[in-house]
Amino acid sequence: MKFSPHFGLVMALALGVMLMSAPTAQCFTMFGFDFSDFFSFASKPTSTDDVIALSPGLAPALAPAPGPGSALRTSRRSGPFSSSSTTSTSGLVVGFYNDKCSSDVEAIIEALVAEEFDLDPTILPALLRLQFHDCFVKGCDSSLLIDGPTSEKTADSNFSVRGYELIEKLKAAMEEACPDVVSCSDIVAIATKVLIKLGGGLDFPVETGRRDGLVSNAADVDLPSPSMTVAQSAAVFAAKDFDIEEMVVLLGYHAVGIAHCGFIEDRLSPGNSQFDADMDPSLRAELTQLCPVGVPNNNFTPLNQDPTNNNTLDNTFYGQLIQERGVLSLDQLLSRDPATAGIVAALAQNRTLFDIRSAQVMIKLQAVEVLTGTDGEIRKVCSKFN
Ligand code: HEM
Repeated sequence: MKFSPHFGLVMALALGVMLMSAPTAQCFTMFGFDFSDFFSFASKPTSTDDVIALSPGLAPALAPAPGPGSALRTSRRSGPFSSSSTTSTSGLVVGFYNDKCSSDVEAIIEALVAEEFDLDPTILPALLRLQFHDCFVKGCDSSLLIDGPTSEKTADSNFSVRGYELIEKLKAAMEEACPDVVSCSDIVAIATKVLIKLGGGLDFPVETGRRDGLVSNAADVDLPSPSMTVAQSAAVFAAKDFDIEEMVVLLGYHAVGIAHCGFIEDRLSPGNSQFDADMDPSLRAELTQLCPVGVPNNNFTPLNQDPTNNNTLDNTFYGQLIQERGVLSLDQLLSRDPATAGIVAALAQNRTLFDIRSAQVMIKLQAVEVLTGTDGEIRKVCSKFN
C-alpha cells in the first residue's frame, strides 16, 4: 500500500467514520491492516449529513483546510474515492490506457494542461462548464465539441462555452503519442480533473474508457436555466440521476469563473418581475453600475463574490450565498429554499466536506450516459466526426 503525503488526514477522517458508526468487526479488520472495506465504507456518505456528523470530533485533524496548490491527496487505493473509482457501473475504469499506449497518456495531458493553466488560469472554469454542458446533453461523449451549423455548440446556452482549443491541442498530442486510441471524451475528463487539482481541489483518480459520440444537434440541448426555481432545477438533475444534495455540490463549482450581465440584469431593477429585493444592497449597487439596464454590453463579474477567493476551488461561494451575495438567481435561491438551505450551510462551514463531495460528484458527472466498448468512435479530430 502506498501512503500519500496526507495519509494521516485521510486516516483521521476514516477513523472518525468508523468510531461513530462502523461495527466492531470493521475495527478488527482495520487493525489487521486490511483497510479495503473500511475505506469503501468511508467513501460512501449517503448524505451530506453523514459527512457533517463526522466533523466536530475531527476538527483538529481537518483544520487547516488545504489551500490552493496544497490539495489533500489520496492514493488510488485509499481515501474517499476507492470504491467509486476502481470499479464503475458505467463501464469506466481508472487507468484504462495503461496497457493501450506506450506513453503515459495522463502524464502527457497533465503537463500540457499545467502549461496552459500557468498562462491562463481561467481555463479551469472554462473546462468545468464545458464538461457539464457536454455531459448533460447526450452524455459525456464530446458531442459539444463538434463544429457545424446546427451542432450543439451553436445552441444559445453554449454561446460562451470556452476551452475547445485546449482540447484540440491535447488531442493532437495524443494522436502523436498513440494514434486512434484516446477519445476526446476522456481527454476532457482528464483535463478537467487536472485543472480541479491545480485550482485547489482534490487529486481524485479519473475514470477513463469513454468513446466519442456520433450525433451533435443544437435541438438536443436542453440545459437548466439560471432563472429556474430550485425545484425546477432539481427535476432536471433528477432526470440525470443526481439528487438535490448532488446538485448543490455541483453548483459549488460556481466558486470559479464569471457570469455575463445578460444573466444578471433582470435581478437588479425594481421594475422587473425578477427583481431581487433581498440581494445584498452593496452588491446590487456594484452590479447595477456594471450592468446598466437597457445598455447592451459584454460585461461580466465573478460568480463567487468573495474578495478572499482568488479563483480557487473552495467553499467560499456558499458563504456568499448565505450573505445574499449570489450572482445568478438560481445560485442565490439555494440558500433561501428550505430544501437546500441546510446543505448550503453545511458546505459553507466545512471546506473538507466540499472538497470531498465535489470530487465524488464530479466523478459521477463524468460518467453520465457514457459510451464504452465498441459504441461510438475514437475521433481523430475532436471537432469532426471521423
Ligand atoms: C442548474 C445548473 C446550472 C446553471 C443554470 C448554470 C448557469 C451558468 C451561467 C448562466 C453561467 C454564466 C455563463 C456566462 O455568462 O458566460 C455559468 C458559468 C459557469 N458554470 Fe454553470 N450552471 C449550472 C451548473 C453548473 C455545473 C454543474 C458546473 C460544473 C460542474 C458549472 C460550472 C460553471 C462554471 C465554472 C462557470 C464559469 C464559466 C467561465 O468562467 O467561463 N455550472 N453557469
